[in-house]
Amino acid sequence: MVAVAILAAGKGTRMKSDLPKVLHTLGGRSLVQRVLDSCHLVTPSRKLIIIGYEGEQVKQSFEDISSLEFVEQKEQLGTGHAIQQLLPHLQGFEGDLFVLNGDAPLLRPETLDNLLQVHQKNNNAATLLTANLPNPKGYGRVFCDGNNQVNQIVEDRDCNAAQKQNHRVNGGIYCFNWSKLAEVLPKLSTNNDQKEYYLTEVMDYLNPVMAVDVEDYYEINGINNRQQLSEANDILQDRIKKAWMAAGVTMIDPSSITIDDTVTLAPDVILEPQTHLRGNTFIGAKSHIGPGSLIENSTIGEQVKVLYSVITDSEVASNCQVGPYTHLRGEAKIADSCRIGNFVEVKKTQIGNKSNVAHLSYLGDAVLGERVNVGAGTITANYDGYKKHPTIIGDRTKTGANSVFVAPVTLGEGVTVAAGSVVTHDVPSDALVIARQRQRIIEDWKAKIMKKQSQYKD
Ligand code: UD1
Ligand code: CA
Repeated sequence: MVAVAILAAGKGTRMKSDLPKVLHTLGGRSLVQRVLDSCHLVTPSRKLIIIGYEGEQVKQSFEDISSLEFVEQKEQLGTGHAIQQLLPHLQGFEGDLFVLNGDAPLLRPETLDNLLQVHQKNNNAATLLTANLPNPKGYGRVFCDGNNQVNQIVEDRDCNAAQKQNHRVNGGIYCFNWSKLAEVLPKLSTNNDQKEYYLTEVMDYLNPVMAVDVEDYYEINGINNRQQLSEANDILQDRIKKAWMAAGVTMIDPSSITIDDTVTLAPDVILEPQTHLRGNTFIGAKSHIGPGSLIENSTIGEQVKVLYSVITDSEVASNCQVGPYTHLRGEAKIADSCRIGNFVEVKKTQIGNKSNVAHLSYLGDAVLGERVNVGAGTITANYDGYKKHPTIIGDRTKTGANSVFVAPVTLGEGVTVAAGSVVTHDVPSDALVIARQRQRIIEDWKAKIMKKQSQYKD
């Protein structure tokens, strides 16, 4: 049995932020959510999050609170003190406990799985992840014998000049035999520069303790300030983009593209510069996205073109063309082979197959059938100041340029709407609706007006 405990009680002073450090986001997920997600291969039966500073906010940030146990550390007296808080919660627990720093978001699930296997195979009391860093400043240094058996961990600030020469650092990621750890936790002292209870001191009492080096030292990067957050973002983006390119995605100027690791791309997708894909987004095969597009929590079909557009919380089926300068949002659903064009905003609206909304329109809370042609400047007046109302437009209906639909209103199939109409009542199928004043012509008006004006001249 495996349990995991994540240290997330600290404020993260060096972030200079109102937000607790572990809630800063990287690629669309909070640091602590990322750490939690990195445990999925070791299938923990219990997941404990140690909270303190802004604890309630940290708790509410999780996607699935019900599967987690929150342990409060009222005062942050150090990482050892944080783990001491687990003692009443894990009483009688038999198995291994992972302890993970909540600020190490680049950890890979495979690395934890490997750590667990080494730990169990060697019957270790503790196994910890280490790395040789070119710049080890700020990290605890790990001192081992020739067989990776750990003798001691010394924090950077407690190191003497000779100890500082050791570049092998503690990643803050450990696997413990819980009952052995529980036995020695009460022994921790505050005999160090910070006068804190250091978790690393347990290594003095446990045996055997083994260090395992990570291949890619980025994995143990702890985020302590905004610069490290931005560096972690670069590393993450690099990882994500290389993986999608290997899977058959073309990227033009990848350094200008960002992709959350919650996004899925099909083969032969082409991403052009300044394209940003976020959240739970899927892009189908052979779709061509960008330049200059933002797509968030949306599903895009195959062979879709999206140019200079913003799409959020929406669905676009295959063979559609979107943009330039289109905004789809709030559950817009565009069926196959539609064209949504320049300066068109579509909100919470369904559009049937082969319909076109090519220029300068707002469609909100509407349902459009198939092969509808929405004329330039068509607007649904969906809001009366209190409530939103629907507009229904049947198959093959054509709306004239500059028509306004004052919702709630329903148009049948094959309706023709005259340009400039303000439609306030339902229209039956196959009708023509003209809802504007008839044009009037006053002959010789200019001569009359000139005459009138000359009377007032002095
Ligand atoms: C810690 C390790 C250090 C290691 C480094 C890796 C100790 C004493 N040192 O140092 O050896 O190289 O991580 O990144 O463990 N936290 C609590 N309660 C507390 C104190 C901290 O929950 O009372 C949490 C913080 O929110 C953070 C994590 O523990 O998520 C690590 O704390 P931090 O202060 O960043 O430790 P480091 O000094 O980086
Ligand atoms: Ca840290």
